[in-house]
Amino acid sequence: MDTSLRDDPVFAAEALDGLRSDPKWIDSKWLYDAEGSAIFEEITQLPEYYPTRTETRILREEVHALQRVLAPGTVLVELGSGASVKTRILLDGADHLAAYVPVDISARFLEETAHGLRQHYPDLDISPVIADFTGDIDLPPALDGAPKTVFFPGSTIGNLPHDTAAAMLGRIRRWNGIGALILGIDLVKDTGTLVRAYDDSAGVTAAFNLNLLKRMNREIGADFDLSAFTHEARWNTAHSRIEMHLVSQDDQVVPVAGADIHFSRGETIHTENSRKYTRDSLAAIARKGGWEIADFLTDPDRLFAVAILEPSGRSPGPGE
Ligand code: TRP
Repeated sequence: MDTSLRDDPVFAAEALDGLRSDPKWIDSKWLYDAEGSAIFEEITQLPEYYPTRTETRILREEVHALQRVLAPGTVLVELGSGASVKTRILLDGADHLAAYVPVDISARFLEETAHGLRQHYPDLDISPVIADFTGDIDLPPALDGAPKTVFFPGSTIGNLPHDTAAAMLGRIRRWNGIGALILGIDLVKDTGTLVRAYDDSAGVTAAFNLNLLKRMNREIGADFDLSAFTHEARWNTAHSRIEMHLVSQDDQVVPVAGADIHFSRGETIHTENSRKYTRDSLAAIARKGGWEIADFLTDPDRLFAVAILEPSGRSPGPGE
């Protein structure tokens, strides 16, 4: 996703709003300009960043469990970035899908995805949908009656506020023909392993976080001194999440979009959350949305899980 735009009034307004709040924060979507997206790709390859390769390994090893929810005639809907290695594992394991529907907010990204996949899977109906997956998603009407399985990998659900995530699960549950949700989630584990995954020794995640300051300097007339802030990954026990912060090293005043923003020494800008689940905490949020855990696929070290959710109960028919 490339959200970059010079002098973007929306970025300026949102950033200022967050920087005037206490505690200070900025929505993590602004981390992903072209440079941020490129650095993020690097993060997924880091030795300390276990989620991507662990999830990929689980998907590769659990083809049979996945095939159960990818029967012939199923529509596979993927939320967020598609065309990755993970998508192809599912497509390779499935037989005669009715369609593959990548959903993303970036039209350009979707075009590239669809183009690449059509070369590789010439017989597959690929019907991209431009939408923000935290809101309503209008699927192609032609697919209305077909059984549907949703793929939401990468523990992206953990980056959403809890209520947004629960609401999203509820909305998908009400889709016509919905049968299953394949959900990648990162699991609670020792704090050291978690913190290192978000504060690697090569400083790549730090560069990813600090890029937000660079971006504000470039796009909304800010004047952050990048050497006066450091990256911090912090475990929040109460919310079971890793938080990313940018920590001010001094008392300082920084011009941002025509305003003066004051920082005290040690004060932070909160830029990202990554919630970690247990099987029980996942079951709880799933239940709220009308889902239950049908399968819980993990790696031998239980670092990460691919949960297969299915609608809980069923609506009673006439006379029941
Ligand atoms: N969803 C993944 C995670 O929480 C990827 C991710 C999102 C991420 N934002 C990030 C990774 C910021 C590192 C830093 O781990």
